[in-house]
Order: sequence, then C-alpha cells, then structure tokens
Amino acid sequence: MVAQRELGSRLAQPGHVAIRAMLARVMVPAESGDAAAAGWRVLNRANWDDRVPIHLASRFYDLEDFRKPRDSLRKFEPAEAGDVRGKDLVHLQCHIGLDTLSWAGRGARASGLDFSVPAIEAARGLAAELGISASFVTSDVYDAPAAFGGQRFDIVYTGIGALCWLPDIPRWARLAAGAAAPRRLPVPGRGASVQRRAR
Ligand SMILES: C[S@@+](CC[C@H](N)C(=O)[O-])C[C@H]1O[C@@H](n2cnc3c(N)ncnc32)[C@H](O)[C@@H]1O
Repeated sequence: MVAQRELGSRLAQPGHVAIRAMLARVMVPAESGDAAAAGWRVLNRANWDDRVPIHLASRFYDLEDFRKPRDSLRKFEPAEAGDVRGKDLVHLQCHIGLDTLSWAGRGARASGLDFSVPAIEAARGLAAELGISASFVTSDVYDAPAAFGGQRFDIVYTGIGALCWLPDIPRWARLAAGAAAPRRLPVPGRGASVQRRAR
C-alpha cells in the first residue's frame, strides 16, 4: 500500500502524462488484436516523447560531459607532434587507449599496443562506443615489430607512466626508432613516467 501511494504521488507530478495514460489503459478491460497493439504503440511512443526533454536535462545522461571533446593528451604533445591528420601513428603501451583515441580524433590513423588483454579489450570497447576508428594490438612492446608486421609509422608515441615499467629502456628506444618511418623522430611522453613513479 505504501508503495502504491508513493507511486500515485510520483505519477501526479508533471512529466508523467503518458505513463498515467498507459496505466489507465492497463486498468480497463483489454482490447484485443490490432486495436490494442496500436493503442499501446501510441502510448509507448508518447511516453518516450515525454522523456526526451527530461533526459536531455538529466544528470544520468550528462550531455554536458558527453559534448566535451574526447582528448586526453597533454598540451605539449599535439604541439610537438604537429598536424597528425592522415599520418600513421603508433601508441606503445597504450593501456585503455584514451590517448590513442585522442590522436585518432585529431585525424591520425592510430594503432595502440599493450600487453594487457583487458586493457586492449577496454580500448576496443571505448573505440566502438565512441565511434572512433583506431586499431589495437595485444603484444609485448618488445615484440612490436613482429606484431605490426614490420610496419613503419610517421609518429611513434608513448604517453605518461609508460616507460618506468620496462626492464630495458635502451632496447625500447631502439625499437621505437626502428618503427619510425625515415626522417621522423619518436615523440616520448616527456619525463612523465618518472613523475608518476615518484608519487
Ligand atoms: C601506466 S599505463 C600507461 C598509461 C597511458 N599512458 C595512459 O595515460 O593511459 C602502463 C601500460 O604499460 C603497459 N605495459 C607495461 N609493460 C609492457 C610491455 N612490456 N609491453 C606492452 N605493454 C606494457 C601496461 O599494460 C599498461 O597498460
């Protein structure tokens, strides 16, 4: 009874016109066949029409956040890389792919690599969810040349907190340089891995 009273008072609020109408319809003897289905469809659509302005303003859908540019890069990174549109970019140790997707959003043909299966699954899921085109490969970074079939990239990138986990930085630097197309320089995440380790 308490629940019914609560429901009744909630439905008395504005914005529940169609829901009230639907409930009223459920209470009356059922029509049969096409008429009932058509009536239900009209009420169901009215219900969803009613919800649109409510959802547009709701914190649940959070459109303000949705409209924010999806870019996790630090200011200096795009400034140093320059215009990436149409360029092949590899992101080593990409984790869940936010920076990879940010480069892709700036127009690069971006590929991310990480040895963590769930990280790459999350990156692929985010790419699909956000409708951003980028590819992701699961591999140890030291096997990157084989994982990319020897492909060379216009830009070889890694982000913050990525280098401090590696056992052999000079070897990493050699493979990063080897992955870069001739006359291009790798763009490392400047010193950030050291900062992160110090926290
Ligand atoms: C701190 S996260 C990188 C964070 C990323 N730059 C960002 O801002 O989202 C470090 C990543 O390095 C990856 N990683 C560590 N050692 C690796 C290796 N040998 N090969 C490939 N990925 C590795 C981890 O799986 C992890 O996703």
